[in-house]
Amino acid sequence: MSAAHRAIAPDHGQGTDADALLARLRVDGGVPRHVAIIMDGNGRWARKRALPRPLGHRSGMRAVRAVIEAAIEAGVEWLSLFAFSTENWQRPSSEIDALMSLLEEYVAREADSLRENGVCVRVFGDRARLVESAARAIERVERETAHNTRLFLNLFISYSARAELVRAAQQLATEVAEGRLAPAEIDEAAFAARLFTHGCPDPDLLIRTSGEQRISNFLLWQVAYAELFISPVYWPDFGRRELFDALVSFQQRDRRFGRVSA
Ligand code: FPP
Repeated sequence: MSAAHRAIAPDHGQGTDADALLARLRVDGGVPRHVAIIMDGNGRWARKRALPRPLGHRSGMRAVRAVIEAAIEAGVEWLSLFAFSTENWQRPSSEIDALMSLLEEYVAREADSLRENGVCVRVFGDRARLVESAARAIERVERETAHNTRLFLNLFISYSARAELVRAAQQLATEVAEGRLAPAEIDEAAFAARLFTHGCPDPDLLIRTSGEQRISNFLLWQVAYAELFISPVYWPDFGRRELFDALVSFQQRDRRFGRVSA
């Protein structure tokens, strides 16, 4: 550890304020290019305050804005947020309705600021299940931000990694059946090219909030070599400081990709 690190942050980020963590990130370099986040704990955040669950999700929406701004500040290039899983369709309809209208509200309300901040938004998942107004709002924000390159924001809505893998396998099988692809041409690159995330680098860092230690069907193929960071904080309380803390932890990892250290 350099003298600059010791002066800025003697520990692993705990108890250090956000600006000091950012300074440390800048001294060290090596910010992950792609950060993926499983945003968890909205419900427990609300329950702890005796509030209805939708209010937890609403507070979670504010955390989304804070984390996007902090990611840009730190120099992250790709941010993938798991907003609604295929399994979440099994929640009570009142909660699904609240989440869907929140997502629509988010897209409508944040579109200008996302555009002005240079964020390119893309939404991945089973769009056929979304209500028409939500699907239209998503198409609009994607269209209006398509030219941006400062931060690539992937929102996963009605998404399941297993379904994404099955879809890729079906595409490959169809291409083979139609004679456009030989079975021997199916390699890792061919498979990755049929995932929603084709063209994105794999996540370097996967963050999950609320202390749960699960992947929950998120980006199963893409996180093969991601570093994991489990934050005890419920998503609505996850902000700039908490993101920088995770990035500092990432900087201290020894990524070997199955090889030995230099
Ligand atoms: C998990 O908390 C969170 C969700 C299922 C939804 C995530 C949605 C948001 C953060 C708000 C809007 C998002 C965007 C992108 C605008 P949980 O309900 O499973 O919490 P619990 O495990 O404590 O019950």
